[in-house]
Amino acid sequence: MCGIVGGSGKIDFRNYLLSGLKKLEYRGYDSAGLAYCLDGEIKLHKTAGRVESLAAIVPDFSGASAGIAHTRWATHGHPTAKNAHPHVSNQGLFTIVHNGVIENFRFLKQQLTVRGFHFDTDTDTEVIANVLERFYIRSGNVIEAMRQTMENLEGSYALGILFSKEPGRLYFMKKSSPLLLGASNEGTYLASDPVPLIGYSEKFVDLNDGDYGFLEGTEIHLFHDGKALTPTFIKKEADQFTNDLNGYPHYMLKEIEEIPSVLATLRDNYFDGGDFLFDKNLIELLKKTNKVHFLACGTSYYASKMGVKAFRTIGKEAYVSIASEWGYDPYDADPGSVYFLLSQSGETADLIRCQRVLQDRGAITVAITNTKGSTIDRKSTYSCLLYAGLEVAVASTKTYVAQACLVAMLCAAISGFHDIMYDIDSFIGAVRGVIAKKEDIHELARGCTKVKNAFFLGRGVDYISALEGSLKLKEIAYVHAEAYPGGELKHGPLALIEKGVLVVGVVTKPEIAASLRANFEEVKARGGHLLVFASDLVKEPGDAFVCEPIKPFYATMALVVALQYLSYYLALEKGLSIDKPRNLAKSVTVE
Ligand code: F6R
Repeated sequence: MCGIVGGSGKIDFRNYLLSGLKKLEYRGYDSAGLAYCLDGEIKLHKTAGRVESLAAIVPDFSGASAGIAHTRWATHGHPTAKNAHPHVSNQGLFTIVHNGVIENFRFLKQQLTVRGFHFDTDTDTEVIANVLERFYIRSGNVIEAMRQTMENLEGSYALGILFSKEPGRLYFMKKSSPLLLGASNEGTYLASDPVPLIGYSEKFVDLNDGDYGFLEGTEIHLFHDGKALTPTFIKKEADQFTNDLNGYPHYMLKEIEEIPSVLATLRDNYFDGGDFLFDKNLIELLKKTNKVHFLACGTSYYASKMGVKAFRTIGKEAYVSIASEWGYDPYDADPGSVYFLLSQSGETADLIRCQRVLQDRGAITVAITNTKGSTIDRKSTYSCLLYAGLEVAVASTKTYVAQACLVAMLCAAISGFHDIMYDIDSFIGAVRGVIAKKEDIHELARGCTKVKNAFFLGRGVDYISALEGSLKLKEIAYVHAEAYPGGELKHGPLALIEKGVLVVGVVTKPEIAASLRANFEEVKARGGHLLVFASDLVKEPGDAFVCEPIKPFYATMALVVALQYLSYYLALEKGLSIDKPRNLAKSVTVE
């Protein structure tokens, strides 16, 4: 994962690099560092911890001619200052920041060790710096050394590189990790995503795999396969990347409470009151297709499970696989299927692997993503954007419901079910109802601060909500949590139910409510701390939280919103880092 930012020219580097890193912290935040060229010398500062810790040790360095910075999500080596980027080659020729993973770094390290190179860190990145140095020493040419280095690296990388003999230049190269460039009258820029560049550059170059080159002042020099290229600039709207807290204490809370407006925007973007506004070719294709297959990770995987339910409701065969599994075992890559790739970020490496497999097989892919211009968006046959606005908190909230509703709208477009608009409207109303009762959920969370283990139970769509609720509790509130279909409880997990174990039940479907209620009784009989989240349609006295009586497909998602609050408030009560939970990152760009 990790985020990188850099530039060359007459830039206020301290401000640009540190504020850029802050905006990239969603990609990892366990250590940070930067390097810059000042008066012909390269200076380096790095530290364990977040960007604030780095800012505290970095002096003023106005007058610098180039700089690079990095915020890390540790892959190789502990999150210490030593392992923080930038990393420097043995003779000090190259100072580099890296996002990605070098798969053959052990082999390369061995080769270099035999040639007398030594290593001070546990990282794969230090190996890249020295591979570059080795090839530079042989050829005396940085561009050639970069080309040879790329030939030797296996894995993914977006790299910013300072070269001690050319202090104003910032070299870069990219494969399978995102990297884009920007330019202004003051200088040129690079970053892992556009957000750090907003306010500095209005135009961007989205680099392709295999691109490399250098920035110098206001000039971009781009190469691919040994040939010079003219960079193609595109514009990106700044408001797509707005991420103010607007008075909220945390992004997670803000993003939960944006859900009604996210749903309204989704509805208006894909339905004009008379007709659906999806790509007509996509709808015609889906009408003819009998089988769809969803691929995704984490919360997007659970949203995909909702998508499967929606497609089965309209009579299509539908399946879902975890991308990190399917990418290495791509069964059912049936040319007749349509493959849905769900991803908030559009940059999840496990899903990009699946996309490549599908591309190689000539399969049709449909991206459902929140991130315009992301790899999943750009490289899929069709793409449907969520328009949910930037999601900053590591925990996905608003994009979960947006993904599931977008798929439901697609199914409505295929089957001509215009009344879905009433469903979405009543769903918006139900979410508003949940928001209005958030303090009740806060109270429930106060009663859970001592909980160490939790089980989430549901059946049918409610089992999907149980899965999503349990994921949120793990990642935000650090409570060990598992989800089971209610009927599975007696096949094993019941052995773990005792006093103090939290059991959260989700129930919205009248036809399965009775059997789920029977499972809840089994929990109560063993002293479990039971909290039932129910739809008004199936409520019973003693339920912990009740949402409006809308269709189960939507009611269960309204209850997911309530479970998002439960995790949020529990994390708040425990004083945890809500928007940036430990060990996680927003965009998972390594496999
Ligand atoms: C959980 C969460 C993660 C992501 C997963 C996939 O709250 O956010 O589980 O859902 O890493 O990420 P995307 O959707 O960006 O592919």
